[in-house]
Amino acid sequence: MVRVTTLASFAALSFSVYGIELNADNSDSVKTAASALASGVVKYYNGNETGEIPGLLSMPYYWWEGGAMFDTLIQYWRLTGDAQYNAITTQALLFQKGEDDFMPMNQTATIGNDDQATWALAAMSAAEAGLPVVEGNPKWESLAAAVFDIMTLRWDEQTCNGGLRWQIFSFNNGYDYKNSISTGLFFQLSARLARYTGNSTYSDWADKSYTWAKSSGFIDEKWSVFDGAHATKNCTDINKLQPSYDAGTFISGAAHMYNLTKADSKWKVPLDGLLNNTLTTFFPGGIATEVMCEESGRCNTDMRAFKGLLAHNLIDTIQVAPYTADAIFPKLKSSAEAAAKVCDDECPLSWTGTGGEETSSGDLGSQLSALTVVQGLLVKSVSPPATQANGGGNASTTTSPTSGGAANAAVPSGTTSATPSPTTTGNAAANGIQRLGMGSLGMLLGSVAWVAL
Ligand SMILES: *[C@@H]1O[C@H](CO)[C@@H](O)[C@H](O)[C@H]1NC(C)=O
Ligand SMILES: *[C@@H]1O[C@H](CO)[C@@H](O)[C@H](O)[C@H]1NC(C)=O
Ligand SMILES: *[C@@H]1O[C@H](CO)[C@@H](O)[C@H](O)[C@H]1NC(C)=O
Ligand SMILES: *[C@@H]1O[C@H](CO)[C@@H](O)[C@H](O)[C@H]1NC(C)=O
Ligand SMILES: *[C@@H]1O[C@H](CO)[C@@H](O)[C@H](O)[C@H]1NC(C)=O
Ligand SMILES: *[C@@H]1O[C@H](CO)[C@@H](O)[C@H](O)[C@H]1NC(C)=O
Ligand SMILES: *[C@@H]1O[C@H](CO)[C@@H](O)[C@H](O)[C@H]1NC(C)=O
Repeated sequence: MVRVTTLASFAALSFSVYGIELNADNSDSVKTAASALASGVVKYYNGNETGEIPGLLSMPYYWWEGGAMFDTLIQYWRLTGDAQYNAITTQALLFQKGEDDFMPMNQTATIGNDDQATWALAAMSAAEAGLPVVEGNPKWESLAAAVFDIMTLRWDEQTCNGGLRWQIFSFNNGYDYKNSISTGLFFQLSARLARYTGNSTYSDWADKSYTWAKSSGFIDEKWSVFDGAHATKNCTDINKLQPSYDAGTFISGAAHMYNLTKADSKWKVPLDGLLNNTLTTFFPGGIATEVMCEESGRCNTDMRAFKGLLAHNLIDTIQVAPYTADAIFPKLKSSAEAAAKVCDDECPLSWTGTGGEETSSGDLGSQLSALTVVQGLLVKSVSPPATQANGGGNASTTTSPTSGGAANAAVPSGTTSATPSPTTTGNAAANGIQRLGMGSLGMLLGSVAWVAL
């Protein structure tokens, strides 16, 4: 994922805050609030309009974030029962699946393992939620499994004893970096496929990828999850930044393995450790915070979605490891209440109500994050994600994917995010910074101008 953004574009705007109404103990109130926030999310998307490209967002949002957005909208449907975004979700997933592997032709050159895995996890969510399969297309879980198969081939034991590189192609900046997000998303994908199908190939890889992350020190003895390290240094130079999304993906993976193995301590121990660390680190004062950048006003476009993705993973965790609800739910609740107070038509990144950059508004990542914590309040009242055995992928099919312009989409004018390239991306060139993927924070912050975090 990517990349470089002008912080200035977020910095200066201040706006009046009225808040949205939320009674966290009343499910109708939660649904109304979630509905308002979800419509705020889709305002950032026009890929379903005639002439636009399904699944793509406009600048400054890169390809991966579309996958994260649709995954969030699938969770929205599961939690609220409101299916109004299912059509655009189906359309987007099917358009961006490319040759059934989420490496669509005109994104291929710049795709990282983390970008591709984000879309694969959205497909996995579609399977677990029972999103109807469109006739003539593969089942959702088959798309997720295809990405799994490809990623196993990229597992690289030449350096660091294993792990996934951040980038796929050696010509991309970041190929020499192995990171937690790529390995962690692969771990989660493996664990969810394992739980969904019962196939031991997936649980073996879940085990292998987790074990590597722990033994390489990407996850330390206190259960902190660090950004990554260089293959060229045999992963001895671990960058200690802690993106909340990295911890979230390992927690979800561990929770799914915990469930699959019927509470085996092999998975309960890491689940407890990671969760404990995360709930103390990323919820100061009970409010979800992207600690590495939020308080200092240095979160870039990608980073603004991370705490929502963490919350997304925590909600899934409650469903497959219900005992964790006692620890997680109060944090979701206090975060949701704080977010509702400061969101209006748009949401700021920071929900603490203190001043500074954090009260500026609004962007898709912050909006997704607010939606997620609010919709998460419904988690206790919905049925768990399906598996193959209990009727998921029940071959429910539909012949009319959407009412949007998928079939005749053409290249829109002004959508430059679709094909950014290292040499032509405006902001990056202007700042003298190469494009970097989502998991790159460490490199970005470490090697460029953002020091002193
Ligand atoms: C199975 O299919 C039915 C009817 O098409 C649908 O209503 C239901 O939600 C599906 N269940 C799952 C778990 O996919
Ligand atoms: C690289 O690190 C691994 C441990 O992660 C170690 O087993 C291996 O010997 C190291 N290789 C080199 C060339 O130092
Ligand atoms: C299990 O998954 C692997 C990897 O996708 C596949 O090659 C294998 O055929 C599957 N096994 C069964 C029994 O479905
Ligand atoms: C949770 O983390 C805190 C602080 O690191 C530690 O003191 C405590 O023992 C941990 N609890 C569990 C259950 O791991
Ligand atoms: C596994 O998940 C199901 C819901 O899918 C839940 O009912 C069950 O209690 C979970 N197992 C454990 C050991 O928590
Ligand atoms: C695109 O999706 C949005 C959100 O669901 C909807 O309001 C709008 O009508 C759709 N546009 C088209 C052309 O289908
Ligand atoms: C990408 O490829 C698809 C289909 O191959 C095409 O319809 C679309 O216009 C292309 N352009 C962009 C910017 O995605």
